[in-house]
Amino acid sequence: PAPSVQEATIHSNYGEKNADVNWDELGFSLIPTDYMFEMKCFQGEDFSQGNLIPYGKIELSPAAAILNYGQGLFEGLKAYRRDDGHIVLFRPEQNAMRMKMGAERMCMPSPSVEQFIDAVKQTVLANKRWVPPPGKGSLYIRPLLMGSGSILGVAPAPEYTFLVYTSPVGNYYKGTGTPINLIVEDKLHRATPSGAGGVKTIANYAPVLQALTQAKSKGFSDVLFLDAKTGQNIEEVSACNIFIVKDKIISTPATLGTILPGVTRKSIIDIALDFGFQVEERVIPVEELMDADEVFCTGTAVVVNPVGSVTYQGIRVEYKTGVEAVSQKLSAMLTGIQTGRIEDKMGWTVEI
Ligand code: COI
Repeated sequence: PAPSVQEATIHSNYGEKNADVNWDELGFSLIPTDYMFEMKCFQGEDFSQGNLIPYGKIELSPAAAILNYGQGLFEGLKAYRRDDGHIVLFRPEQNAMRMKMGAERMCMPSPSVEQFIDAVKQTVLANKRWVPPPGKGSLYIRPLLMGSGSILGVAPAPEYTFLVYTSPVGNYYKGTGTPINLIVEDKLHRATPSGAGGVKTIANYAPVLQALTQAKSKGFSDVLFLDAKTGQNIEEVSACNIFIVKDKIISTPATLGTILPGVTRKSIIDIALDFGFQVEERVIPVEELMDADEVFCTGTAVVVNPVGSVTYQGIRVEYKTGVEAVSQKLSAMLTGIQTGRIEDKMGWTVEI
């Protein structure tokens, strides 16, 4: 049984003993941990005080805005256990700020950056025993913001809930650094201009499931969506951003409102610039993707994953992968910083 919240927060040595998990078998499936953080407020008010509570089911009215109208946002970030035993978060303020932006778009109050980071820290500390040992994975942190109040007509909910829960995770796709095979979806779209593709609303994810399920049934790892306006330009994979490399120039779709501004995307751009690469954020026609030397995906869950092949309208092209690939160099630097094995000159990690 999980220790009480009081025990968890009062006894600083709590959490030193690791949870009973086979750390070598971690994938990206939910492993429930001991505690979650909850904070509520009414419409027109600010969030004030939240609490750690035992992880478990939550009660919602059948008329809750999140259930009926999808008024909700989520975030994803990770905590790492370093070789010296310290636990660090990676750029949590970026997730906090993105949630604020998204909340504005979805007409929700949002926790302040400080409240968000404090809630994340408290949740990680209370679930410390679930942070995988160094090199075995990370503790994935899932903040949720939702219209939890009841509403029948289409309108902002009268009450909001901010929740943070966690799960230890390993690789999102099967196999460490194994190249994935993508298929370009040329009929269904993920986001539309002036829609909500640029914020992390829960409503952006169910619409990818049809294409994703079909792709998986054909043996592909994931789906790459094209822009809805012209159907000519690459946008985003269902759970991550995409980069192409051609003649050592790294390009990624610009964030023009239909693409999620990924924290890993942004970090990889900075790392690449620091290495001296030319990086372009722009519109990328699908033809350029098919002509690239290398393709890779980035995301909090995915980290940096090489793409082995892309199939578009029945044509399959293969890309360079392996130790010589640009993605490998960028990935090694990013994960080195995250795990503390490389000095964090960027100031991205936050010790808790
Ligand atoms: C993340 O990378 O944190 C995400 O939000 C992707 C998620 C859909 C698995």
